[in-house]
Amino acid sequence: MSVLEDEFGDILQKARDGKAWSANDLAEAVATPVADIRRMEQYELIPDDAAILKIAEALDLHGPALQAIAHQTWMPQASQPDPEFEMTCLNVFMGTYPVKCYLIQCRETGATAIVDTGANPEALIKKAGELNRVPSKILLTHAHPDHAGGLDALDQAYNCPAWIGTGEPQPRGSRDLKFVQDGDRIELGHLNIEVLSTPGHTAGGVSYKINKTIFSGDCIFAGSMGRANSSWQDLFQSIVGKLFSYSDDTRLHPGHGPATTVGEEKQHNPFFFGKA
Ligand SMILES: [Fe+2]
Repeated sequence: MSVLEDEFGDILQKARDGKAWSANDLAEAVATPVADIRRMEQYELIPDDAAILKIAEALDLHGPALQAIAHQTWMPQASQPDPEFEMTCLNVFMGTYPVKCYLIQCRETGATAIVDTGANPEALIKKAGELNRVPSKILLTHAHPDHAGGLDALDQAYNCPAWIGTGEPQPRGSRDLKFVQDGDRIELGHLNIEVLSTPGHTAGGVSYKINKTIFSGDCIFAGSMGRANSSWQDLFQSIVGKLFSYSDDTRLHPGHGPATTVGEEKQHNPFFFGKA
């Protein structure tokens, strides 16, 4: 079983970030020593259930959903893949940090695209070769090195365009970099890929939607959300207002951690239960 990207301690930090609270602020709000809050955020302490509920209430999180993550009793259900395209998820590492990137292929035409580089062009090139595929497009959710690093090697191997959201820094390595914005469409064989603007983790972050499958980068994680490097409110709104506007059976493929669905996250994500 794959593990969630974020643990109890990560969720506390991100929820504090949303309220612009220091660890001291949280400690005061729940009448707990700040040293204990720090130990929770460093994965050294899981408090008892009553304390988890108190912390959840203070941080506007859903208590039972937070308990389930603290006790590792929830994982999103796997969903059936879309029959119109084949998807290969590569679990790779940037240093010791796990990251996901994808090869997607139109079943009818064989047209293939890469979604994010995983900072591992060698792994993508090797896998594409094993599968007898020649990618013709590179779709980047954002410019962070674990998602866009190694673009030059992919550019050399496939000499194909790369796409990234307007407002992202320009990653190095593509000789044909194109900028996209919300509502733009990219064709891949018979597949129609829709660009969704999902800022907040980064200012120009985008997700790519094919039918009922969304490649969402570092916007949402199963049971959590990305780090709000650009704007917490924008990130929250990208998830609730954009990703959650799609039906519950819409698949979400994040850049880290397991795949999930809109329905799973509405029911089990402590940040979003009851807010969408
Ligand atoms: Fe990122």
